Amino acid sequence: MKHRILQAGRLLPSLEARLAAEFDTHLLASEADPQAFLAAHGGEFEGFVTSAGVGFNAATLELMPKLRVVSSFGVGLDKLDLAAAKARGIAVGYTPDVLNDCVADLAMVLMLDVARRVSEADRYVRRGGWTTPGVASYPLARKVSGAKLGIVGLGRIGQTIAKRAGGFEMDIRYHSRRPVEGAPWRHEPSLIELARWCDFLIVITAGGAGTKHLINAEVLDALGPRGFIVNVARGSVIDEAALVRALLDQRIAGAGLDVFENEPQVPTELFTLDNVVLLPHIASGTQETRQAMADRTYDNLQGFLRDGRMVSPAPLPN
Ligand code: NAP
Ligand code: 8YV
Repeated sequence: MKHRILQAGRLLPSLEARLAAEFDTHLLASEADPQAFLAAHGGEFEGFVTSAGVGFNAATLELMPKLRVVSSFGVGLDKLDLAAAKARGIAVGYTPDVLNDCVADLAMVLMLDVARRVSEADRYVRRGGWTTPGVASYPLARKVSGAKLGIVGLGRIGQTIAKRAGGFEMDIRYHSRRPVEGAPWRHEPSLIELARWCDFLIVITAGGAGTKHLINAEVLDALGPRGFIVNVARGSVIDEAALVRALLDQRIAGAGLDVFENEPQVPTELFTLDNVVLLPHIASGTQETRQAMADRTYDNLQGFLRDGRMVSPAPLPN
């Protein structure tokens, strides 16, 4: 008998095909009334496949009394109610490490883009600005190589960003609650001091309640009118209203944002600002990395159901 697996939403076609070949899968998102479906059929499922963006809550788990394992596509744990899973003895898998390169690459892209005005210059060329007679030459940008970089969160991805920034000969310091043992970069216990010191502040902490609005108006003012911020973590880590105000008042130099507080909604005030680059949460979005995430999602689920072993179990709360 194949294990019955509930799939929260659509996944990469290759992952859906692999899951369907090995298990008896059902797509919850195809139901007109997912709650009613869960109430009627939740008891059939041993496994649940979700994603960092969709997650799961305690109420969903309650409707699946036979559930033994959740496999999540993504590394973020902020939408996964791990305490509820632990209380039920449900194992949870996620996909750390395999996306470090691409998320770090995109953080560098955003930093370079806002500093060198790349997206803005592209718009200028497309609208004919370069060929318009009498228009002054394109405004100068800011230098990234050798500049001061502050990294907020020196975990798996933060360290990957720091290594890349080393190639740009940047002066690197970081802030996290604890210094990272053996890290060659200087730990700054005060986020405000880090913001005051750096030219570029890249945010790559975990999301969730512990980091909500860690970057507030005070931090943005410490970054100051020559400082740029890049966020590839979670929208919730920055007080978005304070960020919008700081950008509108030109109290910081610019921002590169992959994530937002209320995705897919992006504050419309930002749409007219040329010193802001806005992306639709695509930091891990390459064919190679998404396939690696898909493979890990499958391996975690299949490994657990085979012999109780996952490649990457999520850390459960104490
Ligand atoms: P990780 O290895 O767990 O690193 C998280 C870092 O955040 C650690 O350095 C941790 O250090 C720090 N941190 C946690 N709470 C903090 C706080 N209150 N103040 C300061 N620092 C804090 O995680 P990762 O694999 O690097 O991933 C980081 C996050 O990136 C994920 O959780 C996810 O939300 C986000 N992400 C986004 C995308 C995207 O598409 N944009 C893709 C992948 C991941 P301490 O515990 O010492 O404080
Ligand atoms: C995912 C992410 O693309 O892994 C994460 O935490 O934010 C991204 O890599 C996305 O959340 C998948 O749902």
